[in-house]
Amino acid sequence: MNNKLWYKDAVFYQISLRAFKDSNGDGHGDLRGLTEKLDYIQNLDVDCIWIMPIYPSPLRDDGYDIADYYDVSDEYGKLDDLKALVTAAHARDIRIIMDLVLNHTSDQHLWFQKSRADKNSAYRDYYVWSDTDKKYEGVRIIFGDIEKSNWAWDEKTQQYYWHRFFSSQPDLNFDNPVVQDEMLNVVRFWLTLGIDGFRVDAPTYLFEREGTNCESLPETHTYLKRIRHLIDSEFPEAIMLAESNQWPKELSQYFSSGDEFHMAFHFPLMPRIFLSLAQNNPAPIIEILKDTPKIPENCQWAIFLRNHDELSLEMVTDEERELMWREFAPEPQMILNLGIRRRLAPILNNKRSKIELINSLLFTLPGSPIIYYGDEIGMGDNLNLPDRNGVRTPMQWNTSPNAGFTNGTPFTEMVKGDYDFQHVNAETQLANPDSLFHALHRMIHIRKEHHAFGRGTIRFIESNDPGILAYAREYGEEKILVVHNFGDAAKSFILPAEYQGEYINLLSDEMQNIQSLNLNPYSYHWMKLHGK
Ligand code: GLC
Ligand code: CA
Repeated sequence: MNNKLWYKDAVFYQISLRAFKDSNGDGHGDLRGLTEKLDYIQNLDVDCIWIMPIYPSPLRDDGYDIADYYDVSDEYGKLDDLKALVTAAHARDIRIIMDLVLNHTSDQHLWFQKSRADKNSAYRDYYVWSDTDKKYEGVRIIFGDIEKSNWAWDEKTQQYYWHRFFSSQPDLNFDNPVVQDEMLNVVRFWLTLGIDGFRVDAPTYLFEREGTNCESLPETHTYLKRIRHLIDSEFPEAIMLAESNQWPKELSQYFSSGDEFHMAFHFPLMPRIFLSLAQNNPAPIIEILKDTPKIPENCQWAIFLRNHDELSLEMVTDEERELMWREFAPEPQMILNLGIRRRLAPILNNKRSKIELINSLLFTLPGSPIIYYGDEIGMGDNLNLPDRNGVRTPMQWNTSPNAGFTNGTPFTEMVKGDYDFQHVNAETQLANPDSLFHALHRMIHIRKEHHAFGRGTIRFIESNDPGILAYAREYGEEKILVVHNFGDAAKSFILPAEYQGEYINLLSDEMQNIQSLNLNPYSYHWMKLHGK
């Protein structure tokens, strides 16, 4: 197998380092803590860890506001701890990617400090300044719950600066060639240190042009290709993963002809998985995948259910959003911006069959799955915490004080109530073969034995009931039939004649000759055609 394409078969695991494991009792998760827990991650059979930003930062946006691109924040450790982590992970065949925030810095970054101090500073042009806030009018405001404009007034130098996110995150000016080179150096720095690639934060917004929505502009793609070129020539196994909340056609531009991003999150698919569950009808999943262009051979979708942000509902209609809010966010404090600030298990009312069903989709639809830390044990959230912090609480390791996360005082309030660490923790689940952890581990394990999941084609199979989603994943000689029941009633699925035959049930290892399948409510079936 060509190792350069490792990401096509990989299972990813997203971590908030601060919340994962504290090694020194200061209440903050850190690099050594994660290194201690690599066994756990290896147990889950994960191939690649994505660590959320660990750069020095004033934490006005949980580290997505970077004050220094060339260091890690003290609370996480030293660069040497990161090197030790990378070495220990690589020894286990686990790769590590990091966040690369290109679009903006923190307002505490020295570049911005110098830029705002003086209009004649050499750094002035590192950011986007304007005499008027009427430029680029109509461009959408992403953090609309808090920000009312993409321009912020700077009192001292009497100009506005541009920011797509919080006003404490001024946008870098990519029209300045010096900025372009600065960021290439950042890329080179981390890859030289041993990092295996980047989840590229908000690559959509690098350039601004009047009369456009300032998103995914040709200039932006040209620059992103420069980064890819650097990677291909100097670090050929490293990857770039695009975080761009766009429709499939725009998204696929981020792959270009296989010379831009290796991977991109399939943002429109994610809410449709939840919508399908809410409606007991998988039609939205089928539609969006039929609308998804074929991507170059060396590219891959990243699919996910939840992450550290709100469950974004930007990519659905107003009616669909209303329906999803009613179903999955019945209380007003569960809503943030255009999304839902809850974790997976609470969204699904902790209903085990639904949690397994939705994970079965994550592991069998085309793309590489990304698991959000804690979702493999069905962790809950803490809605008392502001913004998106409620889904970034400490990993619940065991029943000892503070969930075994820290010997000190955790940096934040933990999850309380039904989902607290007495009820939900990794140790208890590891000890119980019937736990969610083991159910997911089994799916991951099977997935990794079959390349059809990561690399194969998908063919949807007509069914006798609209609540059934059936598809064949095929790669070379391998043919796997995947069937899901989105309904709360038992059903029977009659296989079209061409699909009837001898199968190995991958989840139970049984051989079965099937003409039809009995499907329990919310059940999932992975069947491999025998003898092929
Ligand atoms: C991305 C991140 C989000 C962050 C934003 C600004 O959307 O996922 O957490 O706030 O970029 O950097
Ligand atoms: Ca610590």
